[in-house]
Amino acid sequence: MRHLLDTRTLAREDALRILDVAEDMRDTQSREIKKLPTLRGKTVVNLFFEDSTRTRISFEAAAKRLSADVINFSAKGSSVSKGESLQDTAQTLQAMGADAVVIRHGASGAPHTLATSGWISAGVLNAGDGTHEHPTQALLDAFTIRKRFFGDDSRGRDLSGLHVAIVGDILHSRVARSNVWLLTTLGARVTLVAPPTLVPQDVSAWPVTVVYDLDQAIADAPDAVMMLRIQLERMSAAYFPTEREYSRRWGLDAARMAALPTDSIVMHPGPMNRGLEISADAADSPRSTVLEQVANGVSVRMAALYLLLAGERSTNHAQEEAR
Ligand code: NCD
Repeated sequence: MRHLLDTRTLAREDALRILDVAEDMRDTQSREIKKLPTLRGKTVVNLFFEDSTRTRISFEAAAKRLSADVINFSAKGSSVSKGESLQDTAQTLQAMGADAVVIRHGASGAPHTLATSGWISAGVLNAGDGTHEHPTQALLDAFTIRKRFFGDDSRGRDLSGLHVAIVGDILHSRVARSNVWLLTTLGARVTLVAPPTLVPQDVSAWPVTVVYDLDQAIADAPDAVMMLRIQLERMSAAYFPTEREYSRRWGLDAARMAALPTDSIVMHPGPMNRGLEISADAADSPRSTVLEQVANGVSVRMAALYLLLAGERSTNHAQEEAR
């Protein structure tokens, strides 16, 4: 793998390979000494043009646990036009000898531009681009689902037979898009649930079912319910009448939790708007995987960095190092 730009074009085998290596990485994370020497001498640059807490910290932890050097570059607030600033920044990073660039950018397609521009030779990992994709988030979500339903050693398994409902602000969500492609590639059935105003126009071409009523979706007994943050910062108009009305119709609360099958899980990529798309009892319930998702994110990003940077060395090598 040269780059990780999206899940739409990620083959099933490559997705499973990342998840399986992430299992090996996770095994190393319960040790007292969590650091592996694998990426010693490599430089990973975190290039963040948009705000982030958990994703940036997660990539930083992942790179450091593999012994890479990490440079954090927060480019927010730059006044140069996007194309120019990206090129200049990329060439600067190239001159500094970056081996991998983890990029988050407000413009959909920026990581792809970086990877194909010829400005740099580093591997590019998309950490969220506009409303387009957020592949490592979907991978950590798939990893979390696989672990909850198939147990500790689920290597080689896909998500066939599972049904995931993705609920809320689909329109602005790169997490939803990456999950739609990845989860369906892995054999899961996906239902999108949202008010009509928050469903993207091109959704008819997606391999999903769309419903507008959360109670109807819950009655269909999904194995996982993935709640999305209402992205007020990306909204220039009113997409729903009031927050109260939104939470009454599309929020996950105790009553809706009780209507779900007892073994179904509740997911959220964070940051959560508690009381809006998810109530505190739902977020803090034992069926919530919110913190598992964060923990698994480090293992999945270790796997992605390893597969990009340790080159053609085999998966067995990761397993050996994990022992
Ligand atoms: C998501 C993002 O930035 O796309 N958050 C994340 O990466 N943990 C989702 C969001 O911001 O709502």
